[in-house]
Amino acid sequence: MKSYSLFCVAALCSGAIAADGPKAPTAEAFGKTTDGTAVEVFTLTNTNGIKLRAMTYGAIVLSIETPDRDGKLADIVLGFNTVDEYIKDTPYFGAVVGRYGNRIADGKFSLGGKTYSLATNNENGGIKTALHGGLKGFDKVVWKGEGLLNKDGSQGVKFTYLSKDGEEGYPGNLSLSVTYSLSNKNEWKIQYAATTDKATPVNVTQHSYFNLKGEGNGDILSHELMLAASKYTPVTAALIPTGKLTPVAGTPFDFTKPTAIGGRVKADDEQLKFGGGYDHNWVLDNQGGELALAAKVYEPTTGRTLEVLTTEPGIQFYCGNFLDGTLTGKSGKKYEFRNGFCLETQHYPDSPNQANFPSTILKPGKALKSTTVFRFGSKK
Ligand code: GLA
Repeated sequence: MKSYSLFCVAALCSGAIAADGPKAPTAEAFGKTTDGTAVEVFTLTNTNGIKLRAMTYGAIVLSIETPDRDGKLADIVLGFNTVDEYIKDTPYFGAVVGRYGNRIADGKFSLGGKTYSLATNNENGGIKTALHGGLKGFDKVVWKGEGLLNKDGSQGVKFTYLSKDGEEGYPGNLSLSVTYSLSNKNEWKIQYAATTDKATPVNVTQHSYFNLKGEGNGDILSHELMLAASKYTPVTAALIPTGKLTPVAGTPFDFTKPTAIGGRVKADDEQLKFGGGYDHNWVLDNQGGELALAAKVYEPTTGRTLEVLTTEPGIQFYCGNFLDGTLTGKSGKKYEFRNGFCLETQHYPDSPNQANFPSTILKPGKALKSTTVFRFGSKK
């Protein structure tokens, strides 16, 4: 009896230590795909009450709860409650997109003397293009997930995926990992790493739709946006870059100073007409490959702020022009026109066909490394 109670005390004791200290998040069941593959969810929390949930299907971020200026939490990303809804219909809510994020003209590119054909799964202005990796891009596959406890005590999750040679028409076995960490400085850090056994274009990005008022709480037009970019890449009616890097000065694309998203979105401008609003790649002033500030957002009614830092040379700012109220989100509210915005850090669209753009070709023996940070905050 005596030894039994001693054992209990020791067990309770070690349990208490573990419960108090930070732990790696564990996988929890979160439904199944149509072929019966199990999907898991990981919940990352930090010491300031921020909570980020991400699942193995599409490495999709399901929710991010952050405090407003009064400490009131709200979920600031659009999404659904079940895997089934994501499988049925989603405009890439929360997902990692790839192998090539954004568009490739005619779904074709040449590499090493060979022409590759991709599915043309998107159409704008009556012209078809390949968008976001194809019919079954990285947003629609089940990744392997592993909870992490980082050295600084913060929680993370590492998603890995092997994209096979020929998958969606792309060459080479691409071995990819995407690691999400949530620091106690309120930073969601995303680290991409990839290697390949044949040269291939790679452009992976995160496609979360933000609404700093809280998802489902109306449009994002009063959010003030700053983009650290003095040029952008104008597009054709197909939303493919013309190849020019055009100064934003004097155009509705100038966000070098914080400006309301809705301030000029209806301006009589051909580029805005092509995009149905903002749906363009900005050329970040920082082209050096080191982590630097790319964007800042402020929502005046809640005081929430979002800062984006990246090692990437570009950012696709998309203001939810294709949202039209047909999708109902996780709290039962319809996602209407421009109810969310995306800041997709990336290389420029159609780079495999544009010799003057920074290269997106990953070669065997080289490692792709890319980092993006979304920093959450609030101000009075
Ligand atoms: C990206 C594209 C948009 C649109 C969305 C998803 O942001 O640039 O044109 O396809 O993804 O709806």
